[in-house]
Amino acid sequence: MFTDHFDACDYLKIQFFKHLTVVSLILGTIMATTICFIIWVLFITDTVWTRSVRQVYEGSDPEDWTVHDFDCPRECFCPPSFPTSLYCENRGLKEIPAIPSRIWYLYLENNLIETIPEKPFENATQLRWINLNKNKITNYGIEKGALSQLKKLLFLFLEDNELEEVPSPLPRSLEQLQLARNKVSRIPQGTFSNLENLTLLDLQHNKLLDNAFQRDTFKGLKNLMQLNMAKNALRNMPPRLPANTMQLFLDNNSIEGIPENYFNVIPKVAFLRLNHNKLSDAGLPSSGFNVSSILDLQLSHNQLTKVPRISAHLQHLHLDHNKIKNVNVSVICPALPTTLPAEQDSFSYGPHLRYLRLDGNEIKPPIPTDLMTCFRLLQAVII
Ligand SMILES: *[C@@H]1O[C@H](CO)[C@@H](O)[C@H](O)[C@H]1NC(C)=O
Ligand SMILES: *[C@@H]1O[C@H](CO)[C@@H](O)[C@H](O)[C@H]1NC(C)=O
Ligand SMILES: *[C@@H]1O[C@H](CO)[C@@H](O)[C@H](O)[C@H]1NC(C)=O
Ligand SMILES: *[C@@H]1O[C@H](CO)[C@@H](O)[C@H](O)[C@H]1NC(C)=O
Ligand SMILES: *[C@@H]1O[C@H](CO)[C@@H](O)[C@H](O)[C@H]1NC(C)=O
Repeated sequence: MFTDHFDACDYLKIQFFKHLTVVSLILGTIMATTICFIIWVLFITDTVWTRSVRQVYEGSDPEDWTVHDFDCPRECFCPPSFPTSLYCENRGLKEIPAIPSRIWYLYLENNLIETIPEKPFENATQLRWINLNKNKITNYGIEKGALSQLKKLLFLFLEDNELEEVPSPLPRSLEQLQLARNKVSRIPQGTFSNLENLTLLDLQHNKLLDNAFQRDTFKGLKNLMQLNMAKNALRNMPPRLPANTMQLFLDNNSIEGIPENYFNVIPKVAFLRLNHNKLSDAGLPSSGFNVSSILDLQLSHNQLTKVPRISAHLQHLHLDHNKIKNVNVSVICPALPTTLPAEQDSFSYGPHLRYLRLDGNEIKPPIPTDLMTCFRLLQAVII
């Protein structure tokens, strides 16, 4: 049974991701999920699917390929109705087979591959997508031109391998680089400097220390929107992030503080996750998290003793499992009038904050009346 409906779903999500704004991210995910479900139903019931996927996937007409051209590496599976996809996953492969020139999507995940030589890719000039997750690839095994010769590559999945550095050089066309769960502690000079189309960089669960970053490490990433460095060994915020960063995930590090004016260089940051770090009140900048672009702020499992300053635009705030004893009502509900109307829904204005988590702190009952009123203005409070 083919698994191509997943590919198309991913493709749709990517299209949405490329035009990402906060709203379109949410709408896009909902729409993509809905569309994926519809497509899946069509897939089950057959033919319409095949035709529409071909239109999405290919510029050229598959009828043009002769039987002779339709070669398939022996180790792999080449579904005739998806001639641009090559399935070689879960086969115990130790080497990458020769990739036919027609292939756009290459599935090699969950094998025993240690090396990426240039040779098997010499004709694979159309490749858009390579999945090499769950293999045994080391940096020594990657031949210098193997990846950079793939001039149309958009997605490179290398999760769960044995990389100690970010591979380099990479194709300039790359849009997503997934390196989660390797042993990456080094980023060679200039690795990212030409990747102007990279939107997503996932380095979570690696071995990055603060000294992995140079002054210009992220320079050149003009379109980077999501940077994930959760579960590394950082003690400081990564320096000089790209200006378009919208999603910054730094959970499970050992970050103690955030420099003054840190957010000035990333004026679009909307999703900031710093759960499971070592942030204290003293480590925060003087204006706290009063940054108007931030919509979702996650600070669970830190060492804060009070609610930090936030902006009026913030929608979701996670402060559970800190050391907060008292909640300053005017920080959470700055618009709360001193004389309260009888009906809570008669407030015509209120904070944008909708969701607040305060459980796992040191807040003792009873909760003051004005704070209770403030909480009622929010959609959900967990305390
Ligand atoms: C690339 O194509 C040429 C010409 O068709 C062929 O001789 C060669 O074996 C191919 N290389 C690979 C790795 O498939
Ligand atoms: C980056 O993306 C744009 C728009 O899709 C494209 O025209 C351009 O060629 C890409 N740059 C590289 C280096 O591939
Ligand atoms: C962080 O660590 C906690 C506790 O070990 C774990 O539950 C959570 O999933 C981790 N989060 C990330 C993003 O790694
Ligand atoms: C947040 O910053 C704005 C200006 O950027 C300022 O007007 C507002 O008073 C600040 N709010 C807090 C709670 O510090
Ligand atoms: C509560 O917050 C307001 C505004 O941020 C501040 O002016 C006030 O001093 C704070 N009150 C306490 C008791 O910390």
